[in-house]
Amino acid sequence: MKDKEIQKLIEKETKRQKSVINLIASENYVSQDVLKALGSELTNKYAEGYSAHRYYGGNEFSDKVENLAKSRALKLFKLSPKKWHVNVQALSGSPANLAVYLGLVPLGGTIMGMSLTDGGHLTHGHKVSATGKFWKAIQYGVDPKTERIDYEKLKKLAKKEKPNIIVAGFTAYPRLVDYKKFREIADSVRLPAGRQGASLMVDMSHTAGLVAGGVIASPFPHANVVTTTTHKTLRGPRSALIFSRIDERELYKKIDRAVFPGLQGGPHLNQIAAVAVALKEASTPAFKKYAKQVVKNTKALTDELKRLGWRIVSGGTDTHLALVDTWMGGKGISGKEASDRLEKAGIIVNKNTIPGETRSPMDPSGIRIGTAAETTRGSKERDMIKIARKIDRILRV
Ligand SMILES: Cc1ncc(COP(=O)(O)O)c(C=O)c1O
Repeated sequence: MKDKEIQKLIEKETKRQKSVINLIASENYVSQDVLKALGSELTNKYAEGYSAHRYYGGNEFSDKVENLAKSRALKLFKLSPKKWHVNVQALSGSPANLAVYLGLVPLGGTIMGMSLTDGGHLTHGHKVSATGKFWKAIQYGVDPKTERIDYEKLKKLAKKEKPNIIVAGFTAYPRLVDYKKFREIADSVRLPAGRQGASLMVDMSHTAGLVAGGVIASPFPHANVVTTTTHKTLRGPRSALIFSRIDERELYKKIDRAVFPGLQGGPHLNQIAAVAVALKEASTPAFKKYAKQVVKNTKALTDELKRLGWRIVSGGTDTHLALVDTWMGGKGISGKEASDRLEKAGIIVNKNTIPGETRSPMDPSGIRIGTAAETTRGSKERDMIKIARKIDRILRV
């Protein structure tokens, strides 16, 4: 690289990534093939529009790249192209979610998602996000005792507030989700216009790799729309996919139009190619084994932390992530202090709010830990036990 300043920074970041224990639940390490596709000449091409309907010439190969990414996405999640459509152009998870609302919910309509404090994402209607400004946002949480979703309470809230769309998707919820119950709740909503049933959008950004690997149940049988980032457990480049049912009220056309021309111009073809590469990798037996190991590793890590006396939110995990209550009602240390101390010792986590948070988002009561990245590097349960013991030594007051 001729630009030595940037080259040095890339080298330093690569070295940093190799030298730390990475427990950030939303990160992963992509393959060299994914990196090659990202750094390819596809970045030079403008391809506004969709396959075979472009506004620029010279898109013979762009169409093939986009079509391949789409067919691989449908195949990976076992979806019939007759029933499901997928948009591969959204630049990342947040614009993907915004596109769905823009396509399906009238401005001023109501979206209902989990609150950030209890494990939802900003784009599920938080007041600082455009999603909480352009639409009326109703937020649900978890049961304070079990720290799991209370489906009865959710149903009552949905019936009362009549949201146009219900979001079942999470950033920091370690438990399995009952999508069938979410479907029933969405169906029970009587919309003001007299139409029966809210749309159900599943945001499986965090767990897409686990769904692809067959370790947790697929949300597709119950959802109208499924969004996902591609860079967490799915182990691809930073991007997003939006799946929608073809047979329902032309949802997919509305969503496609919301992505382009509603929110974006030219798609990032290099990114779409890199997604296609990752989707192929995720369809291999090796990836299935990886996804299984991720869940086993998280369980090993949290079981050991629990044994050492740390409180794990909801008592444990079923997925790739867990929340550790480091504050423990004032007996421990704050999430910020925990994450700072761990970083000094080469363990990277993020501070995180916990259900019933009593502190602030900048200095909350817990940390979020995940094993997708370390599992990619080959870690097994015994390594996780060692990491848990190291965490315990660093955090103990
Ligand atoms: C559930 C969920 N949805 C959406 C997003 C947004 O993704 P991005 O950061 O790519 O915009 C995230 C990111 O953390 C997420 O966890």
